[in-house]
Amino acid sequence: MSHTERKILVTNALPYANGPIHIGHLLGYIQADIWVRFQKLRGNECHYMCADDAHGTPIMLKAQQLGISPEQMIGDMQKSHENDFADFHIGFDHYYSTHSDENRELAETIYNRLDKAGHIKTEVIEQLYDPQKQMFLPDRFVKGTCPDCGAEDQYGDNCDVCGATYAPTDLKNPRSVVSGATPEMRNSEHYFFDLPAFGDMLKSWTRSGSLQNEMANKLNEWFEQGLQRWDISRDAPYFGFKIPGTEDKYFYVWLDAPIGYMSSFKNYCETTSKADWDEYWQADSEAEVYHFIGKDIIYFHSLFWPAMLKGADFRQPTNVWAHGFITVNGTKMSKSKGTFIKARTYLDHLNPEYLRYYFAAKLTSRIDDLDLNLTDFAQRVNSDLVGKVINIASRCAGFITKKFDGKLSGDIADSALLEDFQKAGDQIAEYYEKREFSKAIRDIMALADRANQYIADKEPWQLIKQPGHENEVHDICSLGINLFRILMIYLTPIVPELSKSVQHFLNDSFSWSSHRSMLTDHPINKFKALMQRVDMDDINTMLEASKEEQIQNAPQDPAETVNDELTKEPIAEQINFDEFAKVDLRVARIANAEHVEGADKLLKLTLDLGGEQRQVFAGIKSAYKPDQLVGQLTVMVANLAPRKMRFGLSEGMVLAAGPGKDEIYILNPHDGAKPGMRVM
Ligand code: MSP
Ligand code: ZN
Repeated sequence: MSHTERKILVTNALPYANGPIHIGHLLGYIQADIWVRFQKLRGNECHYMCADDAHGTPIMLKAQQLGISPEQMIGDMQKSHENDFADFHIGFDHYYSTHSDENRELAETIYNRLDKAGHIKTEVIEQLYDPQKQMFLPDRFVKGTCPDCGAEDQYGDNCDVCGATYAPTDLKNPRSVVSGATPEMRNSEHYFFDLPAFGDMLKSWTRSGSLQNEMANKLNEWFEQGLQRWDISRDAPYFGFKIPGTEDKYFYVWLDAPIGYMSSFKNYCETTSKADWDEYWQADSEAEVYHFIGKDIIYFHSLFWPAMLKGADFRQPTNVWAHGFITVNGTKMSKSKGTFIKARTYLDHLNPEYLRYYFAAKLTSRIDDLDLNLTDFAQRVNSDLVGKVINIASRCAGFITKKFDGKLSGDIADSALLEDFQKAGDQIAEYYEKREFSKAIRDIMALADRANQYIADKEPWQLIKQPGHENEVHDICSLGINLFRILMIYLTPIVPELSKSVQHFLNDSFSWSSHRSMLTDHPINKFKALMQRVDMDDINTMLEASKEEQIQNAPQDPAETVNDELTKEPIAEQINFDEFAKVDLRVARIANAEHVEGADKLLKLTLDLGGEQRQVFAGIKSAYKPDQLVGQLTVMVANLAPRKMRFGLSEGMVLAAGPGKDEIYILNPHDGAKPGMRVM
């Protein structure tokens, strides 16, 4: 091969450390992982970095709400993110955190260099302040009535109902979502980065022709509107890095977040010695650097980030590649429909390579949104991967094993067909390189159709019955296996685990150039089922599980998760004593507690009322183990109409408080209370 080895650094957007990975996130990670695996398969030096984005107000408040330190929360979250990514076969070479020494040092270096070059200015500005919580409020943490249409409960930056955008100070009846208090205006000194000073450099980058069209168009729009200085400071209390030389000012999370790309790589270089950090980041670096991001964060990556790097005398990215957003069954992911699917919920029910394949089959180099249609998903995976590709091997392998001692023949049955498969490699490689994965798959599946047609025409299962045709059958099936092998080489970046099983089956080890060779006189292993078909029932169970989780879990919106209890659930309408007295509450002993087969959330409780027993299904499995409960006293609603559930009859309800998950607290009477006593 003539091409020289490239040096490439690839990053994905850093997920926030305050929530789990969901199926929307996965699009970008799967896209980048496929591209990286392709580069590595070709023999290029390619380093793939990511990290958790650990700073900012939502993370600080979420940790407070959980009653743990932000350090502990981001540590736990990082572990869960890393597990999710690993299980989707996202092969980061390094996963780090923006809350690290390396990131602090680099953020300070970059800030100091920008300051020294005159790119940082300060100014006193007015901002909304929560007098009760004693903190300045970001726009998303103020809610009130839309000044345009009068819709209630709208955020401080725009109205969901009429689409108006406005300043939080324009909201009517504004309130802090943190405390419910009425915000007031306060002065504070802020630090600004002089983005307009980098206008010329950004314009020439935009005109270079290497950016995605849609991105270049966006940038041109922003140039027309005029570039604005960027507010890079936040006041204490804040979870982040202090600005050098200040006591109570912090870097805004978006200043140190992209620096996380550099610091993750720094920690990797220092701990593994696999690359030289300076070689990749110095101003005149010849290495390639690519950032894969979602379309919602283009502004940060295409304006602020290159400008910051330029101003601090580092290299700029070779390119920033944005992808669109995921919709499920044609609409935005929805909690009530169960289509807000967490990575872990998916993994509990379906093979990760199905999703990798489906995303690849629909991904282009453009910024279009991508619909995950679940019926289409099942059909596509079943017909392409199982029905076309794997089918080739399953039709040929049995003969090789049973009739020919598990060894491929030395002859080529149809060299023209084989050559066509080999020649297709260059075009497919170009599609991978350009992130036109859907085109790569289109070509691969067209080849798979030809291989199947070839086998159908030759009918080895008929030939084998005719004496004297053994050699022919051997050659046909050996060619079939070789065609299958080439297809699997081409599919390796997309379905790496399937490819691994195939390499084991073939006694082979793939690189991209392996498609130019062929296996002859070569022993293979016994064929085992390589992949199950997608079962629509599993998809439906996943959607159900997802719905149930949403009922249990606190809302995902960071602003909503920090409400205090009364704002979250205001006190209900007044009732009189007679109405209250209708509810018959009784002390009960938990005589037995057990898991319910097939139920993710429920425990089956046997409650003893002192003379009468009740069976109750309670949604408390996420917070309690059965043996923690047995023998305990609690309080139940004893006169609630029995309810038929999927698992049996539920004859009452235990009383519990809390938002859900591991935060469910059942009531416990003081010592002395006896089963059956009425609670008034
Ligand atoms: N922390 C920032 C990124 C900092 S990069 C220096 C962030 N985090 S995020 O968790 O909100 O999103 C992580 C990535 O997932 C982003 O690229 C974002 O665009 C992407 N997606 C989040 N939801 C998505 C969909 N529904 N569909 C596709 N991608 C989505 O932004
Ligand atoms: Zn409105």
